[in-house]
Amino acid sequence: MKRLCITGGRPLCGAVATSGSKNAALPIMAASILARQPVRLEGVPRLRDVCTLADILRSLGMSVSRLPDGDLQLDTVESASVRADYELLSRMRAGFCVLGPLLARRGRAVVSLPGGCAIGDRPVDLHLAGLSALGAELKVQHGYVVGRAKRLVGAQVQLSGPRGPTVTGTANVLCAAVTARGQSVLRGAAVEPEVVDLGRFLNAMGARIEGLGTSTIAVEGVDQLGGARYRIIPDRIEAATLLLAVAISGGRATVEGLVPGHIDTVLAALERSGCSIDTTAHSVCLSGPERPRAQDICARPYPGIPSDIQAQWMAYLSLAQGHSTIRDEVFPGRFMHVAELKRLSARIASPGDGRVVVQGVERLAGAAVTASDLRASAALVLAGLAAEGETVVRDVYHLDRGYEEFDRKLAELGAQIRRIS
Ligand code: EPU
Repeated sequence: MKRLCITGGRPLCGAVATSGSKNAALPIMAASILARQPVRLEGVPRLRDVCTLADILRSLGMSVSRLPDGDLQLDTVESASVRADYELLSRMRAGFCVLGPLLARRGRAVVSLPGGCAIGDRPVDLHLAGLSALGAELKVQHGYVVGRAKRLVGAQVQLSGPRGPTVTGTANVLCAAVTARGQSVLRGAAVEPEVVDLGRFLNAMGARIEGLGTSTIAVEGVDQLGGARYRIIPDRIEAATLLLAVAISGGRATVEGLVPGHIDTVLAALERSGCSIDTTAHSVCLSGPERPRAQDICARPYPGIPSDIQAQWMAYLSLAQGHSTIRDEVFPGRFMHVAELKRLSARIASPGDGRVVVQGVERLAGAAVTASDLRASAALVLAGLAAEGETVVRDVYHLDRGYEEFDRKLAELGAQIRRIS
């Protein structure tokens, strides 16, 4: 198992580039099943999750290859296969995004339910209700969703549940609606930039979608989609994580190649915590405070603070002056990182009312810790950057699922970080 060894206490400085967005790339790759001509994607990050989805798509008769210039090319070579296996889907939930495209393009789908997850309960009822509303016949059998659809038919679909809109559910239903007969209206749809990116990609292939970025998306079904050459948006979660890394280290550095408008709420919260921030059209330069000011953070759907950086905020606020509270409305139990942050001498309590209370300490102390999931592992690396002495983060494969060369990027900014086996 790979580990990261970090010697804390070095303020990060310099400049670093953002990679393409994981959570935009994955549904867009899955949506390529709909294309009748080849798809060429620019800016797809080199990540374990991307490799896993490429394997799922290959098992479904697609060719997926990296071109010499780094673009990803996808093409259907054989369309008889409709089974996405548990073996692959259990490694990555986003594999479930093949369900809508398979039903729309191949009329059949046998897709494994994604299974357990370290960040809490993640049902797929809204995906299934939405696809059923479009006329798919779906059954759950032996851990698989087994679906049939002749030609899907446009419908009114509700994509919001008790905790807000579903992101990948919106992706699945949107992909199914684009070639359905007639008009569909998706209400309570997710407004995340990654969903907008998927919609733009589908439009580039010939779909007719309006209202992207709002909670009501209108889709006029078309007979078929062609191919496209498309550039994936920058990863706002990676960008925000890098900015929090600079902030927690008390350094000054620029994160380049991002869309600052995608992280407005995060930038405002960083400023409130004492960071000073200069923004250009495609970069953010941040100077971290000596010690952050405490604040209350609540993760919410876009444009709120993303659940995907809640753990990294907790690492940062564990060094704040005063006490902060943290809640996650999207995944209320996504707090696996608490116990590991405590191993680094953070003072964190869970009073049992859904909040986590972080009493800021002056210093964290390095220790061996174990990553439980992707974003928790990023939080532990951030804490390690600020901790005294050495921090060893185990099970780094979680980090490699979603951050492209994270350790190299931090080292480029002056962090003392090395990878060991
Ligand atoms: N929900 C339902 N029913 C459903 C689907 C979701 O009740 O059918 C609930 C969930 O339990 C949750 C909320 O709705 O409380 C939102 O879940 P959502 O479906 O939006 O999450 P997701 O689509 O499975 C994506 C990202 C996650 C990110 C969430 C929230 C991808 C591939 N994954 O997951 O990213 O945390 O949206 O923004 O886009 C990550 O990158 O580390 C990650 C976990």
